[in-house]
Amino acid sequence: MYEIIREGEAIIRIKKADKISKQMDVFYNPVMKLNRDISILLLNTIDSRNMQIALPLAGSGIRGIRFLKELGNGKIKSISFNDYSAKAVEAIISNLILNKISKFTITNMPNNGKTLKNFNNNSINNKKNNIIINNEDANWFLLNSSGFNYIDIDPFGSSNFMLDSAIKRISRNGILAVTNTDTAALTGTYPKACIRKYWSAPKRDYMMHETGLRILIRKIQLVGMQYEKALFPIFSYFRDHYFRVFFQCVKGKKLCDEIAAGHGMFNNSGPLWLGDLWDSKLVNRMYSTLIKNPTSKKILKINSLKNSKGIFGELGNQRFPVSQKSKGFLRMPKNSKNFFSTIKNKRIMSNNQNYKGLLKFLKTIKDESKINAVGFYDMSNIAKKRKLGTVMKKEDIIKKIKKKGFKAANTHFSGTGIRSDIPDNKLMALL
Ligand SMILES: C[S@@+](CC[C@H](N)C(=O)[O-])C[C@H]1O[C@@H](n2cnc3c(N)ncnc32)[C@H](O)[C@@H]1O
Repeated sequence: MYEIIREGEAIIRIKKADKISKQMDVFYNPVMKLNRDISILLLNTIDSRNMQIALPLAGSGIRGIRFLKELGNGKIKSISFNDYSAKAVEAIISNLILNKISKFTITNMPNNGKTLKNFNNNSINNKKNNIIINNEDANWFLLNSSGFNYIDIDPFGSSNFMLDSAIKRISRNGILAVTNTDTAALTGTYPKACIRKYWSAPKRDYMMHETGLRILIRKIQLVGMQYEKALFPIFSYFRDHYFRVFFQCVKGKKLCDEIAAGHGMFNNSGPLWLGDLWDSKLVNRMYSTLIKNPTSKKILKINSLKNSKGIFGELGNQRFPVSQKSKGFLRMPKNSKNFFSTIKNKRIMSNNQNYKGLLKFLKTIKDESKINAVGFYDMSNIAKKRKLGTVMKKEDIIKKIKKKGFKAANTHFSGTGIRSDIPDNKLMALL
């Protein structure tokens, strides 16, 4: 039994499944809507034009179809959908048609075209199209390409098997987006697996999701450094059952050395990334873009692309060198003037599904991104350790910390956590 699902501006036809799993004929997970929403928001916020986008693990095609429908005009130069499953590729083709996108190039036919015989489209193998469909192993697909400005890796489980080819094919100043659902290894349920796969020791405690994210970031950065590509996280998070990181890729030995200087131990775990998890200016912009454009219905024309400086504006000259801070934390200067899209009135979130949830999530990240601290305090952990019968409300503690002149905010990693730059002893004195 098939059903038609609407997500954002896209519709897809998908086989009904009792359980979302790898075993599905063609994979579609509604829980990952937020993952796709954030990708669209981020790409609409930064000054990216004429992007060459690669979706090496495209599944049902939902992400790419949403990109085509929801990214601002002028953003996409080309988009390549790839999946090694013939059924997935057939689903991508029929879902594109369902969305009235009928001009695309199929570079190699699944099942030698047998299952597509009813599909009559002149666009097949017409190299002029900017929508390309490919049915190969994802690593082959990437390595056979001349490269992309945006590569989105969204596998079942670990992202490890895709890192080498994706990093080789991500362009200078390009964005590499990585999803990883290997949470059991990264959060310390299987510490040996984490050491084996991510070259780092995890720790299973209240901070395990932040630790896991930082371990994952370092692992990906290490692969980048081999090719003199410095990968700076510009937006990252943990949610539901997965980690997600957007890296900006900058080329250069010195920058790689700076990345390496940002690796170290924390809370008896690691080595892990001790630098920023977010570019706080970017998070601010994403948040305000979302507030301003929650439900605009029309795609409005971009007024002018005259001043286009090419992909990602001037970002290439405005790298984010990591610098050592007095407290031992690493920060990226927020001096990226032309990092953000100047395109006005583009559509951001085209419908209201989960809008409030996304807004709340982004607000938490926006607030915590301003705090120069690795790790966070956990109120129930402190209460347990200090045998406190009752603890103050989190909001009251945050207020008290701020009154003392420190920064404090909720963290998206934990409902009982507070991210703050207040030293341990000073916080204890407040409780
Ligand atoms: C988690 S799904 C992708 C979901 C999709 N990106 C989305 O947003 O809905 C992973 C997809 O990768 C495909 N896949 C897994 N390993 C692959 C490989 N080595 N080469 C190409 N495709 C692969 C699977 O067939 C599956 O469709």
